[in-house]
Order: sequence, then C-alpha cells, then structure tokens
Amino acid sequence: MERLLIVEDSEEIGRQLKWGFKKDYSLYLATDADDAIHYFKRHRPKVVTLDLGLPPDSDGTSEGFRCLKEILKLHPLTKVIVVTGNDDRESALLAVSIGAYDYYQKPIDLKALAVSVSRAFHLYNIEEENRKLRHALDEKTTVMSGMAGQCPAMTEIFSTIRKVAPSDVPVLIQGESGTGKELVAKAIHSLSMRKDGPFVPINCGAIPENLLESELFGHEKGAFTGAHAQVQGKVEYAEKGTLFLDEIGELPAGLQVKLLRFLQDKTIQRVGGRVDIHVDTRIVAATNIDISEAIESGRFREDLYYRIGVLTIKLPPLRERGGDIMLLANLFLMKFSEQYRKRLKGFSPASVELLKSYEWPGNVRELENRIQRAVVMSDTQLVEPDDLGFTERPFQGVSAFAGMTLREARDRVEKEMLVAAIEKNNGNIAKAAGELGISRPTLYDLMKKHGLYTPSS
Ligand SMILES: Nc1ncnc2c1ncn2[C@@H]1O[C@H](COP(=O)(O)OP(=O)(O)OP(=O)(O)O)[C@@H](O)[C@H]1O
Ligand SMILES: [Mg+2]
Repeated sequence: MERLLIVEDSEEIGRQLKWGFKKDYSLYLATDADDAIHYFKRHRPKVVTLDLGLPPDSDGTSEGFRCLKEILKLHPLTKVIVVTGNDDRESALLAVSIGAYDYYQKPIDLKALAVSVSRAFHLYNIEEENRKLRHALDEKTTVMSGMAGQCPAMTEIFSTIRKVAPSDVPVLIQGESGTGKELVAKAIHSLSMRKDGPFVPINCGAIPENLLESELFGHEKGAFTGAHAQVQGKVEYAEKGTLFLDEIGELPAGLQVKLLRFLQDKTIQRVGGRVDIHVDTRIVAATNIDISEAIESGRFREDLYYRIGVLTIKLPPLRERGGDIMLLANLFLMKFSEQYRKRLKGFSPASVELLKSYEWPGNVRELENRIQRAVVMSDTQLVEPDDLGFTERPFQGVSAFAGMTLREARDRVEKEMLVAAIEKNNGNIAKAAGELGISRPTLYDLMKKHGLYTPSS
C-alpha cells in the first residue's frame, strides 16, 4: 500500500479522513508541522494532505506554509494537497503557486478529496517512471547509431547488427514503414570495416524505371540522348562503402538481373558500356513488403532473394516493442524540448494510456512526429492527448482493436473515455460525468472498475 501522510489538527476531521482512507493507503496522521516533517523525512510519502491551519497558529496559515515549504524543499516532487478554511481561497492559490499540487476548502467532500489523492499518486508514479526512464537511458538502453531500444526483440537486433556488420555479406532489412530500417542500415555501415567509406542510399521505388538503371550503374558518354558525359552510378559511388537499396521490392525485373550479376561476381557494366568494371561495394537492402509474396507472384526473382536475403533482419512494429514506446517517447520529448527550449516534464496519465495502447501504424516515425508536435503545441508541464493530436482522430477504425474480444474492446474504449473526460475537466467528476452523459455515482463505479480510483465503502 502507498503511504499517505495526513496533516490535520482537528480531531474530528482527522478521524473522518482516517476512516475514508485507511482501506486504500497506509496512513499516518500528524497533528502539527514538526510531527509531519519528522514523519516525512523518515518515510517519504509520495502524497500529503496538509491542513494549512496548524498549531500554534491554528487560525492562521504560517505553520501550514512552513510545513509545505519544508516538504517541497526536502523532495520537490511530492504531491501536497492543501486543505484550507472555508473562505480562504487566497491562501489556497498561494500554496499552489509555490508548488502544492491541489487544494480543497473545508468542509471536506471526502469523495472528491479521494479522487484528488488517487490522481496525485498516479501522477507521482508517472513522473517517477519518466525520471527512471531517463536514468535507465544511461544504463540498460542500447543506443546504436541514434537507434534506441530496450525490449528483447530490439536487444536481439542490436546483437545481430554487431555480428553481421564486420562481414561483407549482403543484409536484407524487413519492417513496416517507420520502424527504423534506414537507421539499421547506417548502423551496419558504421560498425563495419567500411565505416570510413561512403554510405550511399538509393530508393528504388522513388526513381522512374527508365532512369534507375543509369542511376544505379552509371552510363557511358553517348549511351542515350542527353548522355553528354560518362557518369558513375551509385554502385560505383559506394566503392569501399555501403550501398543502401531502399524498397528493393520495387526493383524492375531487368535490374534485378543486373544486381544479381553484381552480387555474384562483383562486376557491373555501365549503360552503353561493354567493359566489366570491378566494384567493391557492400549491399544492404530494405523492404516494407513481404518479399515471399512478391516471389510467389513473380515480381521478385527467387535467385536474387537467395543472394540478398541470406541475412535478414526483421524489425518489429513499434506496437510490439512494449516498454520501448515510453522510452522512445521520453527520448523524443527530451530531444525536442531542448530544441524548442520548452520545459516539459513528461506525459499526463491520459497521454501515457494513449501512447501505450495506440496501434502506431506509422511506427517510430509517427511517434517522433507526434511528440514533436506535442512539444510545439504544449503550454503545460505535462503532454496531454490534445497536444499529441489524438483527440481529432481517436481511433484507427476497428483495426485498433485487432485481437481483442468485444468485451475487451468495449472496456478499452470505456476506460479511455473516462480518463480523457476526467483529465479534460481537471478531475471535476461532476463535469466529467455530465459530459459522458452518466450520473456521478455511475462514473465513480466505472472509475472503480477500471482501477482509476477505489472509494472506500
Ligand atoms: N529505435 C529508434 N530510436 C530512435 N529513433 C528511431 C528509432 N527507429 C526509428 N527512429 C527514427 O524514426 C524515423 C524513421 O526511421 P527510418 O527512416 O530509419 O525508418 P524506415 O523503416 O526506413 O521508414 P520508411 O519505411 O518509411 O522508409 C527516423 O527519424 C529515425 O531517426
Ligand atoms: Mg526508410
């Protein structure tokens, strides 16, 4: 159970709070500032509820503020919920301005306070997770040529890259769009003996077929109209380096033969040329289509595949990388916060929920773009779903629920809508319930069901 420190000098209210919270938290009730600070130093509770009117200044706020300042000095990330007298809004606002998390005015509405306390723990834990992630970056995370990862699948890929890089064998990288294929190709190059040679990328799908041959293999003067001079192709450019053939599945049949020949005897002929030119270039290729299907339908030569696909690296889609999603999200958040000089601490609970459950059809590239957008948009300390551009297009159709039962999908939507409504209304349950079109008690029931808050009854 999480530790909750309640600082309250009124015996009656203290009893009431104890009764309300004892089921869900391990409680300590302090009745003055020194007692509270003493307990805080020893047990470091994440959340504190603090009555500002404490003895010997029970009618004023000096002791309450002293206690608040001391706690925040000891541990600035503590979530302190301040409780003030019925009309003392000013002190409440002052407390928030110096770092209190939230405030409540007496008389206390136990249910509302319980929601605030539960959210405070949640937020604390998220901030802590963010901090740990940042910390872990130096320890467990591998960063290879700008590519970061910690999940088992990526760890495996990093070790494969290390193994295959030093040899000269061709490598085929498979993965959905935005999974980092080009980064893998660069990593292979920079860990190889060819690292001081050129890394030359060419996108086979982006260049018109009639130009691609000359682009790859070069041409002799007069080879075709407009060929005023002899030109080297990318294969030759990449001499002593690596040629990255992106979207190899798009390579036209005639060029597949030429490439196969190059892979077999390391020689090429320029367009319009007759001499064989020996070239020392390593081929790394990438595809986001399933090559075996292309082979079956006759669009890709099987013999070329046997040459080029000896070593295949399969990049998992982002949605299958577990904790890497939040790791990368935090990395990008740091990178862009620095770039745009923004002070962003992390992600709100609703954002984390969304980032973790989203399908990521555009994989790491999409994540990077969304975080960049969020950093630009955000004017708070925590990134909200709005900033990430999720609210305009909350679902990717039913594909977002692939593999779930109807009940699981329903639960997911329900939870996401609750979190979003509560976040949007800053924890105001009545408003959130109104927006969701349900009664307050129903909302409490649903929050309990989804573990968002467990009222003691
Ligand atoms: N593991 C990672 N860590 C950090 N950044 C990454 C990682 N993977 C990809 N990226 C970033 O995501 C973006 C997309 O990566 P990349 O271009 O390598 O993907 P791709 O698979 O080649 O995509 P496409 O199929 O669209 O060509 C780049 O900005 C890259 O820096
Ligand atoms: Mg690419």
